[in-house]
Amino acid sequence: MEKATVLFTPDNLAVDVEPGTSLLQAANLAGIELVSSCGGDGTCGRCLVKVQDGYVKVKDGGNISPRAKKAGLVLACKTFAEGNVVVDIPSRSRLEEHQVLLDEQLLLEKDIDGAEGFSLQPLCQKLAVTLTPPTLEENIADWERLQTAIRSALSCSDVRISMSVLRQLPEALRAGDWQVTVGVTQINGCAEVITIEPGHTTSREVYGVAIDIGTTTVAAQLIDLVNGFTVSKKGSYNKQARFGDDVISRIIHASERPEGLAELHQTIISTINDLLAELLQPGNLAAKDVLMVTVAANTTMTHLFLGLPPKYIRLEPYIPLAAATPPVKAQELGINVNPEAYVVCFPSVASYVGGDIVSGTLVTNVAKDERVTLFIDIGTNGEMVLGNQDWLVSAACSAGPAFEGGGITYGMRAMKGAIDSVDIDPETFEVKVSTIGRCKARGICGSGLIDCLATFRNVGIIDRAGKMQTDIQTPRLRQSDEGWEFILVYGAESESGRDIVITENDIKNLLRAKAAVYAGIRSMLNAVQLEMEMIERVLIAGGFGNYLNIGDAITIGLLPDLPAEKYTFIGNSSLKGARLALISKEAWQEAQELGEKITYLELSAGNDFMEEFMSALFLPHTDMSLFPSITNVK
Ligand code: FES
Repeated sequence: MEKATVLFTPDNLAVDVEPGTSLLQAANLAGIELVSSCGGDGTCGRCLVKVQDGYVKVKDGGNISPRAKKAGLVLACKTFAEGNVVVDIPSRSRLEEHQVLLDEQLLLEKDIDGAEGFSLQPLCQKLAVTLTPPTLEENIADWERLQTAIRSALSCSDVRISMSVLRQLPEALRAGDWQVTVGVTQINGCAEVITIEPGHTTSREVYGVAIDIGTTTVAAQLIDLVNGFTVSKKGSYNKQARFGDDVISRIIHASERPEGLAELHQTIISTINDLLAELLQPGNLAAKDVLMVTVAANTTMTHLFLGLPPKYIRLEPYIPLAAATPPVKAQELGINVNPEAYVVCFPSVASYVGGDIVSGTLVTNVAKDERVTLFIDIGTNGEMVLGNQDWLVSAACSAGPAFEGGGITYGMRAMKGAIDSVDIDPETFEVKVSTIGRCKARGICGSGLIDCLATFRNVGIIDRAGKMQTDIQTPRLRQSDEGWEFILVYGAESESGRDIVITENDIKNLLRAKAAVYAGIRSMLNAVQLEMEMIERVLIAGGFGNYLNIGDAITIGLLPDLPAEKYTFIGNSSLKGARLALISKEAWQEAQELGEKITYLELSAGNDFMEEFMSALFLPHTDMSLFPSITNVK
């Protein structure tokens, strides 16, 4: 059958596909990444495109809002090319635009209280070794000769070598006149020779890469392991996003499609290889000089990165295949560094408290501090650790995608054009918004939504249950096919020319998300019989924290009502921990111990979480005594 040509505008990229191919697949083939939070199931309503010309078949059953339909949009995953088609992609439907901001946003260097204290003892180093040549009388074999020298140089009794390097040894020793430079990793008390060069090479360049694999984004740093300095850093979105936004849709894809796991594995490897190429580019550095890689990721991402089936992570009783995984050679994974380099992943605590949280706990020294600390990473899941030097508990609650813009009519991630703050005049209800990048508004991101909810409550647009107060006098409040909504930005001022609104349903979704996080914190405190005010510091990790206003977060009851000075934003602590482990054997060892030391609290066991969740579905809470600083309740 003749192929159909799909032309995407405004890119002017054309791709030939079999008739019956979805526009989502066609876009992927053309190298255009669309937002496809549900992985193409038709449920998220975000892969919106406009068919300008040609013949398509639109399948029923997708979740598309009446508003989008009215604007002539269709879901790319539910629309199939039947002949030549011209398809326009609105900017809001694109994934790739995250990238630019990511570099600034994810890699913010911020001081973390107490992160120092580890000396520079990298997981991999190069050693210049001089051996005594053998004689007829002293005829020890080549490898045992080298092994003895390395044992004494590193004070390590267990020294190994891979077969491929062992084969190079005799010629290298003789070519260098019994002087060689060896690359040696030291992981978990065992040293291994992974490279060998004849002579004492003038440049003993050795690099490592620290990687944070997030569900949405991936960030990496190239580190000079001789001095511990950061050479370059890069970030990008996780290309796995085309299989769904959250870990659950990716687990389903990996478990229910024959090629699913391989596809997800290859996609994250390709994301990382692209980043590696960018990391090495500035100094024209060679991939062969990268001898160590540390990876911090949530449990599902760790499984997919290593090609391990994640199926049972989402099935009760939620068990991962492995919490701690063995080191693996880069060549086995297809990572473009020295093929003999080791890749090590931070251990997880449980299915929903992963290596990224262990990494963050490591770098923030929570386990060494006498103060009771709440460490929290808010995304689709709220993952948290509570404790001090004597004890540590962790939990995860499903906040849903609202804080990342999912399930919100004009929700979007924190990228250019996203509304990040909202100001409303309490008398006239006139609105002022600011956007990331100071450009025309395209939608609203998590911090903007929190600000908006707090402002709505403060000026009386909504009541404590999140219901719109329909008696207020402003043309901005109106009723649509989907119920009551408030216009934040009129079409004349928005990028798309359409009004940007917040609906009552959006508010409901936000209430559920914030209630889940707060209920998680309360349930953890209940489990260890502590009161909220006993928390001495709160560390907020993740890109979301960079734009979050603590006052607003307390006003809506997302975070505990504690003095502002107790709160610190710590940026990407997962990446920082991965970097720390790379340059400190001691820190890596501590991370292994942390994985075992942190107790996991399963919030779905018992009724406590559900009761806390129901009580937190108000602004800020049904029990106002928990929010003493909030007095202006309307
Ligand atoms: Fe198309 Fe979700 S609705 S990808």
